[in-house]
Amino acid sequence: MTEHEARYPVPEHASARAWVDEETYRSRYAQSVEDADAFWLEEARSRLTWFTAPEIGSESRYTPSDVQVRWFADGELNACYNCIDRHLEDKADKVAIYWEGDNPDDHLSLTFAELHEKVCRFANGLKSLGVGKGDTVTLYMPMIPEALMGMLACARIGAIHSVVFGGFSPDALAGRIVDSGSRVVITADESLRGGKNIPLKENVDEALTRPGTEVVEHVLVVRRTGGSVAVNPRDCWYHDVVDPQSSECPPEPMNAEDPLFILYTSGSTGTPKGLLHTTGGYLLYAAMTHRDIFDVHDDDVYWCAADVGWITGHSYIVYGPMANGATSVIFEGVPSYPSHGRIGEVIDKYGVTILYTSPTAVRSLMAQGDDIMASSTRESLRVLGSVGEPINPEAWNWFYRVIGNSRCPIMDTWWQTETGGIMITPLPGATELKPGSATRPFFGIQPALYDNEGQELSGEAEGNLVIKASWPGQARTIWQNHDRFVQTYFSTFDNVYFTGDGCRRDEDGYFWITGRIDDVLNVSGHRMGTAEIESSLVAHEAVAEAAVVGFPHEVKGQGIYIYVTLNEGIQPTDELRAELVKWVRKDIGPIATPDVIQWAPGLPKTRSGKIMRRILRKIAADELDGLGDTSTLADPGVVDDLIEHRQSK
Ligand code: WT7
Repeated sequence: MTEHEARYPVPEHASARAWVDEETYRSRYAQSVEDADAFWLEEARSRLTWFTAPEIGSESRYTPSDVQVRWFADGELNACYNCIDRHLEDKADKVAIYWEGDNPDDHLSLTFAELHEKVCRFANGLKSLGVGKGDTVTLYMPMIPEALMGMLACARIGAIHSVVFGGFSPDALAGRIVDSGSRVVITADESLRGGKNIPLKENVDEALTRPGTEVVEHVLVVRRTGGSVAVNPRDCWYHDVVDPQSSECPPEPMNAEDPLFILYTSGSTGTPKGLLHTTGGYLLYAAMTHRDIFDVHDDDVYWCAADVGWITGHSYIVYGPMANGATSVIFEGVPSYPSHGRIGEVIDKYGVTILYTSPTAVRSLMAQGDDIMASSTRESLRVLGSVGEPINPEAWNWFYRVIGNSRCPIMDTWWQTETGGIMITPLPGATELKPGSATRPFFGIQPALYDNEGQELSGEAEGNLVIKASWPGQARTIWQNHDRFVQTYFSTFDNVYFTGDGCRRDEDGYFWITGRIDDVLNVSGHRMGTAEIESSLVAHEAVAEAAVVGFPHEVKGQGIYIYVTLNEGIQPTDELRAELVKWVRKDIGPIATPDVIQWAPGLPKTRSGKIMRRILRKIAADELDGLGDTSTLADPGVVDDLIEHRQSK
């Protein structure tokens, strides 16, 4: 049997204690789609603590002229209360967070009681800066407890947080501050990753020189490294503002449909979109998926090795685990520092039972060989998880065999910023695994495959992945731009949510995600629009035109390949190439660092002037046989030139 045909049945240790076995999966899945309102209302009432329990289930509709996503709209609750206060009765002294710093000697733990006290002070500190219900606050933070505490403090007082990943550039940060209308920004002096200091506060200062950012009244700065920072009139130190506050702060009662957070993500066109998630449905979906998919019990030590700047961090570092009263490891550093054995060492140090990470992290470790795991036993592990991009069977097998000692099932979880939580996934006690397949839908999720004409495909098929009915975790809108929300997700096909992913369904009804079918790249699990990178490049004085495509990359999944046409009279030099790489890094952030730049005297275009990316993708991937029909090109000769001068990777 080749590894592509391998099957992994549910291990006995998983079936012995799992929340969901195969029979429960089948019967509850059937109920969740046949009587969705009853199913979700029951889940909502039993899993969350409400000030007013909801009687209304879904009021969602996908009619293009009138798209609305709405759940539990008569319910009232507070997300922070659900994540902290309600655990104080029986889990006050349980560890909520084991924080592991970049340097292994830097660590601390916080119980739910300690977290309660700190989050209340933080919330009162925000109030003292004038933040109230409905205000937006931008967080630009390292992976330190204050990042989570800041999010929960916002939720406690009804403020809407907008977390911007600390790897984004000042310009990217400025755009998100302006779009979200944040009057307060929370940051730290510096972040620390892999022994390197990253000047977060300096980036904020630079961002706040950009037009539109005058709305920012306060910058609250956490001291992380003690690195020196400029102090401007709008700046205040976290310890000065927060430490003197009272440790009592009543949680604000919020309607289930009141906004909880905005999170920006890239689309195929235009500027990043701020997806809006609301309080009740999102929290329920994060909590329920977290508990059922990772099979979390009271004695588990759970580690999601993501950053809070992504949706994975929101749902599976903060809201899901905390709503479930779980003990989590929060990691500031990177898997390769101080050595490639770090992940295993952290697992042993805290007795981690559940590890949720990304294929790109797995592949980067796999490239170092099996020996790197010799410094740890990882005996405590029970369940593994993967997220962010398709996991190739080779990486799956390495993850399973080397990290998981061939005894931990891997949950390959497919979802998106827009979906709020995991949508297609195995369950540890229910699902036979096939490496590379995200397997089957979670409760209430109805995936379908459509052809390009909008016909639903049945049985074994490959097509566009859409989701039929709404689910509680679904994003409600794009902040300040509902039209774009409708246009992006509900106009390609009638009456379904369009995911932007391609997918195959096999003979067992298992789903295999094949990747984005729009102009969105997935580089190391980070999502970015080709249009964003192109518009950054054409803003450089030397560049006339640029076309960006992805190409298969061993570690990153996809790499960034750029075709650049220079302005008349500009010489294509290696210095210029290096300068353009730096330019994009500075403009968007290090995650968008180009891998390859090819000088292109011309780009393949149709007679109507549309760049034929299909051809550019094939050239970048060295797939020269399948270039397809080039006869509709305005100048077929440019293709030969591009092939001849393609760059090695
Ligand atoms: C895109 C969403 C979900 C949190 C992290 C990324 C790709 C995600 C998988 C998976 C295949 C996956 C999809 C999706 N993706 N998980 N298990 N298998 N592809 O969130 O930044 O919103 O990106 O990531 O292409 O559309 P995101």
